[in-house]
Amino acid sequence: MSAISPKDGPVAVTGCSGFTGGHMVRELILQGYKVRACIRDESSWRGQDCVNYLSRLPNVDIINGCDLFTPGSYDEAFKGCSAVFHVAAVLGNSADGKSQPTGSGDVSKDVYEGGMVGTKNVIDAINASGSVKRMVYTSSMAAVSGARGATVPDGYEWTETDWASDEVDPERWNHPRNAYSKSKVDTEHFINDAADASGGKWDAITMNPAMICGPILFKAQVGQWIEQIGRLAGGLDPSWPSKYDMYYNIIDVRDLVKAHRLAAESEADHKNSHGGPRYVMHGSGGRSALRFGTEVAEIIHEHFPRFVLGKPATVTSEGKPITIASKVLNDCKKAKSVLGATIRPVEETIRDVVETSIELGVITPKLAS
Ligand SMILES: NC(=O)c1ccc[n+]([C@@H]2O[C@H](COP(=O)([O-])OP(=O)(O)OC[C@H]3O[C@@H](n4cnc5c(N)ncnc54)[C@H](OP(=O)(O)O)[C@@H]3O)[C@@H](O)[C@H]2O)c1
Repeated sequence: MSAISPKDGPVAVTGCSGFTGGHMVRELILQGYKVRACIRDESSWRGQDCVNYLSRLPNVDIINGCDLFTPGSYDEAFKGCSAVFHVAAVLGNSADGKSQPTGSGDVSKDVYEGGMVGTKNVIDAINASGSVKRMVYTSSMAAVSGARGATVPDGYEWTETDWASDEVDPERWNHPRNAYSKSKVDTEHFINDAADASGGKWDAITMNPAMICGPILFKAQVGQWIEQIGRLAGGLDPSWPSKYDMYYNIIDVRDLVKAHRLAAESEADHKNSHGGPRYVMHGSGGRSALRFGTEVAEIIHEHFPRFVLGKPATVTSEGKPITIASKVLNDCKKAKSVLGATIRPVEETIRDVVETSIELGVITPKLAS
């Protein structure tokens, strides 16, 4: 069996200077694991900030120099481990031509190859370890729904049988703007094939989260959706990815990393389950999709009524309110029923983003006079 427990030896986590990776280490430590925390550069400011946090946790070995683009750089970290949680990815905001010294400098290429080439290097290290029984990969809802959101009928529910590449015109699919979705889809298939090719030595499970939000453990984790929620609470306008309103389909990072761990420990027949060995993780607290400019702002206002909030757009680029939210039903039924995953109310997630953004000095709220 490939299911693991703390008795099977240490586990490794890639991308520990990131938001999800840092939380993954914390979750595993709290559940009795010894963790090899892989980071790529302990001298970078993110690396230093993360080392400062991780050094305060028990049972963590920090392994420096693990770069997705460097073959062999995960070998030492994975030796003797029972499982690998592969969380690291080259994301658009870390592929800016400066943040990937070992990449090509082309953002779309680095995002795509960070998945494919990077994961090949991770898999080579798993095969070389001789000890790893299970790989848990952090993919994305971008590999499930991707750009197909506008094309689905009203009330559509995304599940593990959906692939972002389904029925998408190849020219559109191969466009550099789809590099992230395509990377996640192709990497999932690549991992599943590699697990099969291992002849039963190890198996693979994929988690497909939506927008990952929740408390910040250290400052270097700030980015993406949590940064935008913090800006709103701090009286600032959104800075990314657009000035227009969009819907937020939130998963709490604590629920997500717990589901990763439960997947690693689960003896279920993941491969032959609905949609294969993948678990959609979205629809926090039964609220499928929140409009950022109105509903997320309302939740912040309910919790922090004295703060003057930013004023994000409440319409799309066409000047209309967002309508997509009514079309889709987001839930993680399979993760709940097969893994026993639990999902907290989204209000708690948003509140905790704001509280920790203040506590860590990321934002300074403006108070109503
Ligand atoms: N954030 C979301 O809403 C979201 C949604 C769905 C799926 N995901 C997926 O969840 C995973 C974690 O995302 P996140 O938001 O937690 O990301 P994050 O905070 O930006 O962290 C990304 C991690 O990957 C590492 N990394 C980047 N380039 C690397 C390279 N060349 N070699 C080794 N490590 C490298 C970063 O290290 P450095 O600090 O050294 O740059 C960092 O530790 C990713 O696979 C992402 O695709 C995220």
